[in-house]
Amino acid sequence: MIRNASLRQLKVFESVARNLSVTRAAEELFLTQPTVSIQIKQLTELVGLPLTEQIGKRLYLTEAGRELQKVCKRVFDDLDNYEMLVSDLKGMKAGKLSLAVITTAKYFIPRLLGQFCQRYPGIDVKLKVTNRERVLERMAENLDDLYVLGVPSDDPDVVFEPFLENPLVILAPSDHPLARQTSIPPTALAGESFIMREAGSGVRLAVEQFFKERGVSLKVRMELGSNETIKQAVAGGLGIAALSAHALVLDRTSDDIAILDVEGFPLKRHLYLAYPQNRQMSVVGTTFLSFLKQEGVLFAEKYLQGLESIRRSNGSLAYWGEDPGQRT
Ligand code: PGA
Repeated sequence: MIRNASLRQLKVFESVARNLSVTRAAEELFLTQPTVSIQIKQLTELVGLPLTEQIGKRLYLTEAGRELQKVCKRVFDDLDNYEMLVSDLKGMKAGKLSLAVITTAKYFIPRLLGQFCQRYPGIDVKLKVTNRERVLERMAENLDDLYVLGVPSDDPDVVFEPFLENPLVILAPSDHPLARQTSIPPTALAGESFIMREAGSGVRLAVEQFFKERGVSLKVRMELGSNETIKQAVAGGLGIAALSAHALVLDRTSDDIAILDVEGFPLKRHLYLAYPQNRQMSVVGTTFLSFLKQEGVLFAEKYLQGLESIRRSNGSLAYWGEDPGQRT
């Protein structure tokens, strides 16, 4: 009976089957060739059918051998997974972390991940950057451990924790006539050509809501799916746009773009960490969450200094701090 086979015999067979060679299996496992042959012979007796056949100089697997190779793969994969679980339980934090974040988060999450991966070198990270709608879809499909979003959904089964401020600013080419004005009423933007993010974007949702509430209908000239492309389009004089101030932190020296002093802007918003309420989060996910809560706060303080020094084109500061716990 195959259930009387030892793990050692299966391991030897797996190596022979993969290498299609007793010699190479012996080298790989640091065994002698007769030892390998004896293990295969014993396994063959347990199965009651030949597992390999020699034709000329080459070794082939029989049908029974090919099926046993599949069984070995499943057994050893399961054992690998179990090993990951045990190292988690021992607090060694090894495994895979999967994150899905909105586009604004791409400016700071990779930096935090850098610190995190240094601290936990055994953790492999997969990061998906996409828009709000797609992040919500991934959450519904349960594809990732943790999510970062700009506008919480009303799903009662998801926990949203405010993490970092995410002010929206209005950008224009620096030679735009509005660039030198102060306290521009939102209605003054009605005639302007707007460059808008794609449908499904959280930024678009926030901008549309802001102007709709004030009875202003915007003239959308162009729809672009990337914050970086929008920045370049504004710099190139194609129109004005709303973007998260995060998109300006690293290159706020750009002379071609101005932040307009529009009343109501910067629009105060937050980024939220989100995860399903009722699902047991993986140990790796929990580790990252607590890392974000400890280190992320220190990081955020430094990072926000970058936001605080962003000035409007008329010289006034475009950003001011606020209570990070406040949900907008
Ligand atoms: P988005 O979200 O990538 O869906 O536009 C960004 C944000 O809300 O800041």
